[in-house]
Amino acid sequence: MGLFGRNREPATVTIRPSGRSFPATGKDSLLNEALAAGIPFPHSCTVGTCGTCKSKLVSGKVREITDAAITLSSEELADRYILPCQSLARGAVELHVADLVDMPDHPLVHTSAVLSGTRALTHDILEVVVRVDEPFAYTAGQYAELRVPGISGPRSYSFARGAADRAKDELVFYIRRTPGGEFTEWLFAEDRSGTALEVAGPFGNLWLRPSGAPALCVAGGSGLAPIKAILEAAADEGAQRETIVVFGARTARDLYCVEEIEAAAAAMAGSCRFVPVLSEEDPGSDWSGARGLVTDVVAALPADVLSACEVYACGPPPMVDALEAQLGALRADGVFHADRFLDKKTQRRS
Ligand code: FES
Repeated sequence: MGLFGRNREPATVTIRPSGRSFPATGKDSLLNEALAAGIPFPHSCTVGTCGTCKSKLVSGKVREITDAAITLSSEELADRYILPCQSLARGAVELHVADLVDMPDHPLVHTSAVLSGTRALTHDILEVVVRVDEPFAYTAGQYAELRVPGISGPRSYSFARGAADRAKDELVFYIRRTPGGEFTEWLFAEDRSGTALEVAGPFGNLWLRPSGAPALCVAGGSGLAPIKAILEAAADEGAQRETIVVFGARTARDLYCVEEIEAAAAAMAGSCRFVPVLSEEDPGSDWSGARGLVTDVVAALPADVLSACEVYACGPPPMVDALEAQLGALRADGVFHADRFLDKKTQRRS
């Protein structure tokens, strides 16, 4: 008998056309249960907004956690498409997933942890170090969910370290203060070292695909964390590709980790150019670097780089959307991987 029968045994979720299957308890999302079983299920946001996990429900029933109509079209809903990151199995389920992606091979881990320390990177960004109780593997560019008891809902943050020799029980995140945000107001109020928390992950599909094409890595604000991790991993792996890193911030006081990025860029086997760009810096300041938006820097890149590059971007949705539109207008297609960090009020990544 399946999940909701007398024995309460997990039901089976079968993925077509691959034929792969995993047990579903119905207590967690189909996506999380697939990832826990080591299935490389396509996903990005995990909160029902990006549509990356969209799959067709071939048979069986699910219960939606949030309304899929926010993300799926009426045609898709009529065609029985669902969002597995926002759906719980109600018994045996069959899904059609066109591509089980070539995701990094890390099983989903839920572990207890302790916040072991913080360091101010800017006036509103903290480096937060978390020591986990279970070994926790991830690929540079991915993210984890942090949950602090007594504070509603998990918060998602990208891993900031990508070097292969990083301690496997230590995770580092860059967290920007969100005025009025429950979690960050708590975090920034005083030294929270020693606080117990829970960590789940890894999630996300922002990781550097092996390729000889130029890589254009674009970060905004605290979106620098996954881009820095990607660079460190690429330097460690001896990646032989041209890389351009653009880091957008408002003013010089919003820049951070510049020396670390420069060190990773210098350690790359291929050429790597780092361009910090400021959008609101005082015109009279002594800043001699680029001014404007990240899209201004991208617009000035050579046409052959723009047409061939693979893009890896992380930052606020307006920045990522503008970049995607800009590149979409310049080329018919091209690799574009992005992680938009979003605030809790819109139930998205923060
Ligand atoms: Fe499911 Fe984004 S909508 S992963």
